Amino acid sequence: MKTEDQGEDRIWTQLYQEANEEAAKEPILASYLHAIVLNHNTLEDALAFHLAGKLSGPSLQPMLMREVIDEAFLKRPEIGIEFREDLKAILERDAAAQKYVEPFLHYKGFLALQSYRIAHWLWISDRKGLAFHLQNRISELFGVDIHPAATIGKGLLIDHATSVVIGETAVIEDDVSILHEVTLGGTGNMTGDRHPKVRKGVLIGAGAKILGNVEIGEFSKIAAGSVVLTDLPPHCTAAGVPAKIVGRPFSDIPAYAMNHHLHKPEED
Ligand SMILES: CC(C)(COP(=O)(O)OP(=O)(O)OC[C@H]1O[C@@H](n2cnc3c(N)ncnc32)[C@H](O)[C@@H]1OP(=O)(O)O)[C@@H](O)C(=O)NCCC(=O)NCCS
Repeated sequence: MKTEDQGEDRIWTQLYQEANEEAAKEPILASYLHAIVLNHNTLEDALAFHLAGKLSGPSLQPMLMREVIDEAFLKRPEIGIEFREDLKAILERDAAAQKYVEPFLHYKGFLALQSYRIAHWLWISDRKGLAFHLQNRISELFGVDIHPAATIGKGLLIDHATSVVIGETAVIEDDVSILHEVTLGGTGNMTGDRHPKVRKGVLIGAGAKILGNVEIGEFSKIAAGSVVLTDLPPHCTAAGVPAKIVGRPFSDIPAYAMNHHLHKPEED
């Protein structure tokens, strides 16, 4: 995978360097870091090896899982662009993340999201049985349930990730931030296209439930613990049960600000 400018893959170079430094500093982790990062030549290779190890199990051996992931990366190279943007989003927005190697190895939001990206490729390639198998493995491993048919853009941060549920006809555009225990679900009263449409740059606070085929306008904020049952316009803050509009965001790009100390003054 080449970078945007077809030159050096800066994220891979930096992540590799970070893994090297960590291996020297913590010898107990050295063989693990070699197996997952340092023995590979590209970010795609390393991620395929890492995810294959995680997602395989008694019903699907690591070698077979690896073949599926390699095929997904080969046939849908956009996945490489998407997971690089997801990694950048974590470093830019999550104050707890200081290096690429940390989310790459350990953050279950990142790993669940990349596993979903493989499952989604299987789904659109009409390999639905294997896509469902992966959905189940992702849920067992990471406590995150994303339907493989859901449509998810790049630059998504799923912070903490525990208990995030994203339904079949949900759409999440680019550059969105989602905290733990968020549900993008149906109301139970609808069939067909029944899940939320989240436009770009939205921040969805922890525990928020957005239910039904409602639209969350771009750059809006949903407060922690809210239950959203109606459309929301762009650039608003909504809070409460049921959620009501309570103001306009301080930042034009709330997903970036995250209230996680990554504040870009020029966006205020
Ligand atoms: C909504 C949020 C993003 C702040 O957005 P904001 O546009 O800056 O909104 P404000 O702080 O100005 O609050 C606007 C109003 O909503 C209220 N409000 C804020 N968050 C709320 C919440 N979760 N539930 C109910 N009301 C809330 C405020 O009290 C305020 O009410 P007031 O005007 O009567 O005083 C923030 O409160 C939030 O919920 N962030 C999510 C963070 C999160 O999930 N953290 C978990 C980290 S592990």
